[in-house]
Amino acid sequence: MTAKLKADGVFKVYGTQPEEALRLARQGVHPKDVLSRTGQVVAVCDVSFEVGEAEIFTIMGLSGSGKSTLVRCLNRLMEPSAGSIQIDGEQLLQKGPAELRQVRRTKIAMVFQNFALLPHKTVVANVEFGLQLRGEPRQQRRETALRALEQVGLSDWANRYPDNLSGGMKQRVGLARALANDPDILLMDEPFSALDPLIRADLQEALLKLQREIKKTIVFITHDFHEAVKLSDRIAVMRDGRFVQVGTPHDIVLRPVDDYVENFARELDRSKLLCAGDVSPMRVPLIRADAVRADALRQLLMANKPHAVVVGPDGKPLGFMRGQELEQARDATAMSDLPRRAVASAFASSALIDLYRACEGQAPVAIVNDAGQAVGAVDAGDVLLHLSDHARRSPDGPSMQHGPEMLEAAQ
Ligand SMILES: Nc1ncnc2c1ncn2[C@@H]1O[C@H](COP(=O)(O)OP(=O)(O)O)[C@@H](O)[C@H]1O
Ligand SMILES: [Mg+2]
Repeated sequence: MTAKLKADGVFKVYGTQPEEALRLARQGVHPKDVLSRTGQVVAVCDVSFEVGEAEIFTIMGLSGSGKSTLVRCLNRLMEPSAGSIQIDGEQLLQKGPAELRQVRRTKIAMVFQNFALLPHKTVVANVEFGLQLRGEPRQQRRETALRALEQVGLSDWANRYPDNLSGGMKQRVGLARALANDPDILLMDEPFSALDPLIRADLQEALLKLQREIKKTIVFITHDFHEAVKLSDRIAVMRDGRFVQVGTPHDIVLRPVDDYVENFARELDRSKLLCAGDVSPMRVPLIRADAVRADALRQLLMANKPHAVVVGPDGKPLGFMRGQELEQARDATAMSDLPRRAVASAFASSALIDLYRACEGQAPVAIVNDAGQAVGAVDAGDVLLHLSDHARRSPDGPSMQHGPEMLEAAQ
């Protein structure tokens, strides 16, 4: 991965005497203790990460964890107290005002939660406002703005005023305004958090669809784990100014590093994210069609399952059989003589929720590889056990707080 954006050891201290706070934070003193000892807020504490070209990288954490502060450091709306930030391998913090303006013009744009639209300007005038400020000719900036409005599905609304728009539409305008600059990197600070759930889901879809065309590098901020999972290639979980875990949505759900992360993950209906190959152990036995009865019985007994999937010499599932019928059969019975029922199969990559649906009633499902060979078999009991096993590890859900972000309005 070539890094489009790279942050190294970034700190941000709020307060009049950041040096002492910085020194303590560098020694590993927790931001809470730094606050009680110095009165300084270490809002971002030693954060390092890289975001690749066309990647959606989400920073997620509870309110107050430092997300907005961090994202503002990335385009120097706020000056980091320490650390380095690179865009396309160029150091951002050493740039002078003119160079910085140039970077903001061409490389990096921001979408805010509270839209920040100018009420007395039409939609298209809002979108082209940034271009106007930097002196683009009227005709050219209008064309750019209209194109951006088309990208977000608002062409018909160009000449209306923000007041005529719903919250979801306003946020689309906010996005269009950022897109009009055609930046390489989009910073999106809780852009959908103020919207109600249906509109929010709509906009998430719209963003994903748009991203397939525009392939920007996106740093997305949210306190909502569902949203993070839906949108992100990778998620960084932030707590008290620090990144506690960075990984794919799958990693974070399956292998949370601590209870804080686990609580987010638990919020999610895991079955929508986990896939068939994750079920472990797969306890339904695979029995070869040429196995002898005694061996087959032993396998069932050891697995403590009432059924098994029968596989042919090529490893492909042939059907499933019931233990009861095996017990009642004569000793010399071959597996191929037993009644055999059709068995459903699923790839290891199938969503667990789909797998669960395939496990109708009592039937097992064969998990197959690309060649169609069974690599294991599960039944509804296995899937449920797998899900509840995760759930059991964290009895309490997270308490999500989300305060209005007053700062945003001022930006
Ligand atoms: N201007 C400021 N002055 C002092 N402290 C601030 C300021 N802005 C934010 N903070 C504090 O920094 C921490 C991180 O805040 P913020 O970056 O807004 O978190 P988030 O976006 O995750 O909610 C919080 O403890 C917040 O109270
Ligand atoms: Mg914030």
